[in-house]
Amino acid sequence: MTAKILDGKMVSARIKNELAEEVKQLKEKGVQPGLAVIIVGNDPASRVYVNNKKKACAEVGIYSEEYALPEETTQQELLDLVEKLNKDNRISGILVQLPLPKHIEEKTVLYAIDPKKDVDAFHPVNVGRIMIGDFDFVPCTPAGVMELIKESGIEVSGKNCVVIGRSNIVGKPQAMLLLHQNGTVTVCHSKTQNLSEITKKADILVAAVGKAKMVTADMVKPGAVVIDVGMNRDENGKLCGDVKFDEASEIAGAITPVPGGVGPMTIAMLMRNTVKAALIS
Ligand code: GUN
Repeated sequence: MTAKILDGKMVSARIKNELAEEVKQLKEKGVQPGLAVIIVGNDPASRVYVNNKKKACAEVGIYSEEYALPEETTQQELLDLVEKLNKDNRISGILVQLPLPKHIEEKTVLYAIDPKKDVDAFHPVNVGRIMIGDFDFVPCTPAGVMELIKESGIEVSGKNCVVIGRSNIVGKPQAMLLLHQNGTVTVCHSKTQNLSEITKKADILVAAVGKAKMVTADMVKPGAVVIDVGMNRDENGKLCGDVKFDEASEIAGAITPVPGGVGPMTIAMLMRNTVKAALIS
């Protein structure tokens, strides 16, 4: 069996087109969504992500500002900028690209963002609202994963869903979103025993570990939907996911490629959150 490829590039293009139409109509009503993206330091991967976010804003018609700050920026300087953007009417969404340099405490900065402008949904108010199921902003990567699962045609309700990884950015919110759709959710992590016994029971398997090719074919249930959130480099420096794509795609019913799977969806969901932010602020 060869799996259906869940093409994140295609689905994200469709979503961005729909958003572009919505933004056009909002502009006619005098509403202009705006995103401020802050990047501190010179992490090359972060640089690529931020460029992609800016490019998507241009495609959708969202006004964007980039603040590229030097590595030596102090926490107070960053907090002052966030405070200024909180008050700026042109800015509906604020995104601080992670990771931040070690001398800056990530949570202090994330907690300073106005929850109404928190398009990453990392502020505790938004995290709590996701837990309750009463939220405006869905965290971008888990939201993108949900869209790709929808694309697979598989109904989440009642299915065994296994998430590998328990980060605040992906694993934990992913589990909540699957639960909200009535999945039976198991979260696995580095201390999980007999991992493959658990993953082999998954109708929907989400890999969000950050370890190149750690999910092998023998860990996948035949016909399962396999979503790969990983973005790693393999031994040859080539971009790869957490899943061994070549062999897992022979077993799975549907699978996301890396690149071109979850990555573009994350950005489309950020655009969606930014448009939403313009409507609630
Ligand atoms: N770094 C890696 N993923 C993300 C994300 O979703 N948002 C932000 N702000 N930084 C990230």
